[in-house]
Amino acid sequence: MNIVETQALTRRYGDLTAVDSVDLAIAAGEIFGLLGPNGAGKTTVIKMLTTLLPPTSGCATVGGFDVQRQPARVREAIGYVPQLVSVDGTLTAYENLLIFAKLYGVPRHERKARIAASLEFVGLEEAADRMVRGYSGGMMRRLEIALAMLHRPQVLFLDEPTVGLDPLARQTVWQHVKSLAEEFGMTVFLTTHFMEEADHLCGRVAIMNLGRVSALGRPQDLKTSIGKPEATLDEVFAHFTGHQLETGGDFREISRTRRVIARRG
Ligand SMILES: Nc1ncnc2c1ncn2[C@@H]1O[C@H](COP(=O)(O)OP(=O)(O)O)[C@@H](O)[C@H]1O
Ligand SMILES: [Mg+2]
Repeated sequence: MNIVETQALTRRYGDLTAVDSVDLAIAAGEIFGLLGPNGAGKTTVIKMLTTLLPPTSGCATVGGFDVQRQPARVREAIGYVPQLVSVDGTLTAYENLLIFAKLYGVPRHERKARIAASLEFVGLEEAADRMVRGYSGGMMRRLEIALAMLHRPQVLFLDEPTVGLDPLARQTVWQHVKSLAEEFGMTVFLTTHFMEEADHLCGRVAIMNLGRVSALGRPQDLKTSIGKPEATLDEVFAHFTGHQLETGGDFREISRTRRVIARRG
C-alpha cells in the first residue's frame, strides 16, 4: 500500500489552476520532497493532503484514508508543520507541547514521558521552561517538529521546514528530519525551494512548476536521466521546466516569514 497517493489531484482558485492533475505514490518510510519555486503549488498540495483544503477534482489518500471522505481518519494519521510560524510565543515549549498532547488525545498517563521524549529528540530539554518568544528561528522550527511528532503520526508533512533559517540551523533541522524516518519509521513529506536541501535529504523528489509535476524520481536518477550525473538539482530543475530557478524565492513571502521569526526571537 502507498502511504500517500494522489490521482489527478487538482485545485483551482478562480481561473488559476494552482495544482494541475498531480499523480504521486509514496511508500511508507520514504522522505519525499516536493520541489519548486514559490507559487509552484506546493503548499496547496500539502493543504489538500492534510484535509485543510478540498480538491477541485481528482483524489488523494493518506494512510489509506480518503482525504475527502475520511478526513478525521487522515488527521489522526498525520502531523503537520505549516510554512509560517505555528507555535505560541507567549508560552514555554513545555506548555506548547502539553496543549498539543491534549489536542491529539495522547493519554494523560503518557503525556509527561511523551513530551520529555519529544523535547529530547529535538534537543530542547534545557530550554523547555523558557518562553518561546526568546527562541531563535531554528529552535522554534525544532519545537514545531516536536509538536508534530508528539502523537507518533505515520506521516509528517513539513511545508518549507528551513525557510528563513541560517545554514547551521538548517542542517540541524535536516538531521532531525532524517532521524524521524530512521528512528521512528515515519514517512516524511516535505516541500522546499532549496534544491540542495532536497538533494541531501530526500530519497525521491517531484519537481513541480506552475502546478504541474514535470519529473519524479531519486535525485541521482534524475541527474543521470538528463545525461549529467554530476549535475546539481538546480540544473535538473532547469532541464525539466525550461526555466532557471529563482533561488531567492518570493521576496515578500520570505521576508514575511523572517519578520515573524525575528519578532518572536
Ligand atoms: N487562497 C488562494 N486564493 C487564490 N490564489 C491562491 C491562493 N492560495 C494560493 N494561491 C495561488 O496558487 C498558486 C500556488 O500557491 P502555493 O500553493 O502557495 O505555492 P507554493 O507553496 O509552491 O509557493 C500561486 O500562484 C498562488 O498565488
Ligand atoms: Mg508554499
